[in-house]
Amino acid sequence: MKGVVLAGGLGTRLNPLTKVTNKHLLPVYDRPMIYYPIQTLVNAGIEEIMLVTGGSNAGDFLKLLGNGQEFGLKHLNYTYQQGEGGIADALRLAEHFADGKQICVVLGDNIIEGNIAGAAKGFRDQKVGAKILLKEVADPERFGVPVLEGKRVVQIEEKPNKPASRYAVTGIYFYDAQVFHIINSLKPSGRGELEITDVNNAYIQAGELTWDVLEGWWTDAGTTQSLFLASQLVAKTGANNMEEAR
Ligand code: DAU
Repeated sequence: MKGVVLAGGLGTRLNPLTKVTNKHLLPVYDRPMIYYPIQTLVNAGIEEIMLVTGGSNAGDFLKLLGNGQEFGLKHLNYTYQQGEGGIADALRLAEHFADGKQICVVLGDNIIEGNIAGAAKGFRDQKVGAKILLKEVADPERFGVPVLEGKRVVQIEEKPNKPASRYAVTGIYFYDAQVFHIINSLKPSGRGELEITDVNNAYIQAGELTWDVLEGWWTDAGTTQSLFLASQLVAKTGANNMEEAR
């Protein structure tokens, strides 16, 4: 399985912090935000990783990360997203890199306490379709929210006013190679983006989406409040099961 970290977008919700730099280069406690999603993939045993960046500071990722030696990697792949066409638009740039293999996609502002090695193993065994990770949250209306019928996710609603469950769809996704065909069939949403929720709904329609609940805390870091919370959580308990490395 290959890994993709999505770190494009303009991060306007964090202005003025993101006026002169990319959101994913901002600090979360003692390291740049982008370190956490890369570590998430590495902890799951994924060593071939592509980073999708964008905006006017893309070169800084290369300066910061190089070939990923700090993570024990031999090589890191980079690609550039023109504009801010959405999460699925950023993911489509990884098609050539994925080369028909299964992928694990992590949003560049998603930080976890534990690790996803178990889910990755489950998906390797699943072989086809997609897998998402859910987490119970206090504010589901900020996220993609699953509609559950028993244990079945029958739909995902993006930032619903009236959430159908207490779960958020986290920004960690597992896909087979069909994902790129699905992306090519998408139309931009009301906010002008190709939505990852539409990708996941296509897998639900095909009856090929499974889900797990993520263990340990999870947060995004894309708003002032969640960026602050992320630093507090990392300071308190560590992230990515890396406490011993601190
Ligand atoms: O954090 C989980 C949530 O992420 C999910 O629950 C939602 O279903 C999903 O749509 C997404 O919601 P956000 O509105 O929080 O996504 P945001 O626009 O903040 O983008 C998250 C990351 O995706 C960002 O850190 C970098 C990457 N991204 C985003 C856009 C819009 C790109 O690489 N390119 C883009 O054009």
